[in-house]
Amino acid sequence: MSELFSVAVVGATGAIGESVVACLEERKFPVDELFVVASERSAGTPISFGKRNPKIKNLADFDFSKVQLVFFCVPAEVSAEYVPHALEAGCYVIDTSSAFVGDESSLLVSAGVNDAVLEGITAPQLIVAPSATSSALIKVLHPIQQVFGVVRIHSTCMQSVSSHGHRGLEELGRQTASLLNFQQIKPDVFPQQIAFNVLPQFGDVNEQGYTHDEMNVVVELQRLVGDDDLPVNISMIQVPTFYGSTQVVQLETREPFEIEQVQQLLSSQAQLKVDTKKDPSSMVTAVGQAGENKVAVSRVRQDLAEPYGLSLCIVADNIRQGSALSSVQIAEILVKSHL
Ligand SMILES: NC(=O)c1ccc[n+]([C@@H]2O[C@H](COP(=O)([O-])OP(=O)(O)OC[C@H]3O[C@@H](n4cnc5c(N)ncnc54)[C@H](OP(=O)(O)O)[C@@H]3O)[C@@H](O)[C@H]2O)c1
Repeated sequence: MSELFSVAVVGATGAIGESVVACLEERKFPVDELFVVASERSAGTPISFGKRNPKIKNLADFDFSKVQLVFFCVPAEVSAEYVPHALEAGCYVIDTSSAFVGDESSLLVSAGVNDAVLEGITAPQLIVAPSATSSALIKVLHPIQQVFGVVRIHSTCMQSVSSHGHRGLEELGRQTASLLNFQQIKPDVFPQQIAFNVLPQFGDVNEQGYTHDEMNVVVELQRLVGDDDLPVNISMIQVPTFYGSTQVVQLETREPFEIEQVQQLLSSQAQLKVDTKKDPSSMVTAVGQAGENKVAVSRVRQDLAEPYGLSLCIVADNIRQGSALSSVQIAEILVKSHL
């Protein structure tokens, strides 16, 4: 029998943590004991994992020395506090938050794109899984960069409320029901009414007018392509969908291309599903993409304003494809070569 590993999922009651647990089960990850961890609020709650029902443990007194691999699926400030404890205890750590994206000593890995960076690991390490926006975008960008070169990227990302976890989902549900019943609403997670609305900005901005999440994607993409000077411009817009993110992307390439070449290139990638029919009634949408492992690409066109410009649309499940599955895929690589 192959070796089994003790695994902890920190944030197992959250949107990403629940999906990590589901992916571990579905993909038959070689789990010996699964520890599910969250805050004191949910300690003792049972979680379903195959035939087992582990109970949530409180992160504040969790002993990381019991486990070999830890998935952190908690807010960035919680990762910032507890990831060092897990590393000190000798665990391999996969963090889904933005806490360590700017930390050059962490490894930023998008499974299927830059797995090679894991080859050099000789001891337990911190591995950061990129945000959902970068995770989807890099899978499209990477093959184009390899064949045609990419010199500039613009993306407008329409984010669903699940980008803000369970609380975002609950707020959209609650506001929608209240407004349909002619009742008052009180925004909490979102700065204004999100139901039946579109918010151009979520969170504070820096001096140049960009939010933390937007700048996070800039850093992630530059790290993933290995070019700190690659011009990247991201706008994140909050839309009232429950799941899935939709990005409208403009790329400028170094080499000239034919649209058919780009379509063929993208269609040959295992992690992508490319729409070439151009039929709006069958095109993948955020709703249709929920629960899917692949990144959907549609509307691949020549950018009319740029001779070397490419315009396309990317739709992906932000929870599963964007974070949980990618994290479990990183763990699968670690199991094969390091753990
Ligand atoms: N949602 C996305 O689309 C997405 C995509 C990529 C990456 N991420 C990142 O993934 C992480 C989790 O996001 P999420 O969407 O899953 O959020 P979520 O649904 O709000 O879940 C948050 C989880 O963190 C736990 N938690 C919060 N404060 C804690 C504390 N002080 N101690 C211990 N546990 C604590 C919660 O436990 P309780 O239930 O006990 O409160 C819950 O399990 C975030 O860093 C987020 O930025 C999210």
